[in-house]
Amino acid sequence: MAEELNVHVINHPLIQHKLTLMRMKETGTKDFRELLEEIAMLMTYEITRDFPLKEIEIETPVAKCKAKVLAGKKVGVVPILRAGLGMLSGVANMIPAARVGHVGMYRDPETLKPVEYYCKLPSDVSDRTLIVVDPMLATGGSASAALSLLKEKGAKSLILMCLVAAPEGVRVINKEHPDVPLYVAAVDERLNDKGYIVPGLGDAGDRIFGTL
Ligand code: PRP
Ligand code: URA
Repeated sequence: MAEELNVHVINHPLIQHKLTLMRMKETGTKDFRELLEEIAMLMTYEITRDFPLKEIEIETPVAKCKAKVLAGKKVGVVPILRAGLGMLSGVANMIPAARVGHVGMYRDPETLKPVEYYCKLPSDVSDRTLIVVDPMLATGGSASAALSLLKEKGAKSLILMCLVAAPEGVRVINKEHPDVPLYVAAVDERLNDKGYIVPGLGDAGDRIFGTL
């Protein structure tokens, strides 16, 4: 029987089209960054689909009526430094009231193990739904360590949003954080021997910041 991965793949045509442009090796930093921001915005639309609403009384220029607004859910966005920063503005454009936390994690190139180097969060993390963003979920080590750190700091409601995942990374999140919904735009084939996602899009941080 085929293995079932617990992951929401957002395969909206606009997202898939933009992701293909990002994958192309000739796509430069400016376009790559803009496309990532746009995809993050579109993915936010999808992951907030079940956010609760409440009715309020308003007055239009024509009549009084009841209308729906978000029911005051407190949200935070937590980019995993550095590449997660490329998704921050897309989420923040959609949820302007969201507070922003930062978790610094880099992958040791030899061991592929995550190394934490920074953490600064809003003081009320336990009251917020935190959307953790990082374009790449490869071995899953960085995202899993970031989620564990956020839980240690009191986070109770977490969502992980990545652009491209390897099946290996999805399995790690499913196993180590079964309580965290995982949203991605694509699950690719595999990891190569350097821990890069195949076909993937290369090193996301370097492509965002032009440090290739
Ligand atoms: C990349 C990426 C993830 C991590 C994924 O970051 O942005 O954080 O690798 O790999 P993993 O799932 O195997 O942990 P990187 O370590 O290259 O740092 P950067 O964002 O500073 O470029
Ligand atoms: N980090 C990246 O930026 N790209 C990969 O393919 C894997 C990890």
